[in-house]
Amino acid sequence: MTTRRFKTAVIGFGKMGAGYAADPAMARYYPYATHAQVLADHERFEWIAVVDPNPDAQDAARRQWSVENVAATVTDLGDIAEEIEVAILATPPDSRLAILDGLPNLRAVLVEKPLGLDVDQANLFLDECRQRGILVQVNIWRRADEMFRRLAAGLLSDRIGRVQVASFFYGNGLLNNGTHMVDFARMLFGEVKSVQRINVFQSFVEGPIAGDSNQAFAVEFVDGGSASFLPLRFSAYRENGVIIWGARGRFDILNEGLVLACYPQRSNRAMTGEREVAADAAELMPSTVGKALYEMYTNLSQALSGTADLVSSGVSALLTSQLIECIRSAPASGEQTIVPIHNYNAR
Ligand SMILES: NC(=O)c1ccc[n+]([C@@H]2O[C@H](COP(=O)([O-])OP(=O)(O)OC[C@H]3O[C@@H](n4cnc5c(N)ncnc54)[C@H](O)[C@@H]3O)[C@@H](O)[C@H]2O)c1
Repeated sequence: MTTRRFKTAVIGFGKMGAGYAADPAMARYYPYATHAQVLADHERFEWIAVVDPNPDAQDAARRQWSVENVAATVTDLGDIAEEIEVAILATPPDSRLAILDGLPNLRAVLVEKPLGLDVDQANLFLDECRQRGILVQVNIWRRADEMFRRLAAGLLSDRIGRVQVASFFYGNGLLNNGTHMVDFARMLFGEVKSVQRINVFQSFVEGPIAGDSNQAFAVEFVDGGSASFLPLRFSAYRENGVIIWGARGRFDILNEGLVLACYPQRSNRAMTGEREVAADAAELMPSTVGKALYEMYTNLSQALSGTADLVSSGVSALLTSQLIECIRSAPASGEQTIVPIHNYNAR
């Protein structure tokens, strides 16, 4: 088997590129919170360049991460740009398309979510990549997480039976973190048939992406079942999580994936002949989210070598973008919006 290392550049060296690595709280739980941490360790990638117009980011790349080729733009990289096979696009979503032009021998990109500020922008980017034969992996990282993959592959129904209902929670913006939760719902429960706003909850604006807002909504899945999505104010506390009620118990994935708890079905304490879910008898299960970004890279290297499919392809991320757009444009009056038929099949 080939062990060739793919020559890689990080384009956009901000918080997700490297900055979060300096957060001591994050370091305790996420050994791989940033692209820099993965690239410093991963045996299938050779980190050869960083591009960022910010002089502080350039300085960090040279001094803290010992990257040799550091420039303000891809053009400023000179000849080295031709060697780059993999680009990590960790810029804001609106400044990615132009970067492709400066990297003529790209074979793959790992793109930060969201894929674009809207579906048209996401589609345009994917089309460009398709025409150039570039693989697109999108860092919607739950898709690469070992435990979440096991849950989606059957562990969830093994533990709690058929899902009755699920409640997702998110904050800091529908486009920003709603993307993660809607994509996670697709990963766990399959494609979405319809969406509708839950207008008794007031929308509010909070989060890093201009024009983004936080809305309550519900989705109905093609395979049956439904889920609600309720926004929380991150100014109070953060959460991107889900509580899932099954026929034989409950499964919580909370604290942004760090706490996985399974609650069993038992005899009801207060009524003979009835049952309950024992909320005080959680079995905590191991979380693997701290390594999910590393696994995203491993999967990308396997896809580049032709031994695996991408776990979070551009096409899959586009379906999530389309859903987010459906939710944003769903009538505030709460009527159901049927998701266009082409969303139904791709996983
Ligand atoms: N997957 C996740 O869980 C996750 C988490 C955080 C952020 N993100 C995403 O990562 C992206 C970046 O977010 P961030 O928080 O790191 O932002 P940031 O502002 O900290 O970093 C962005 C960096 O990109 C640089 N940049 C801007 N335009 C550029 C260009 N044309 N070429 C090169 N560099 C350029 C900026 O100077 C900055 O240093 C966003 O799309 C965000 O949604 C994803």
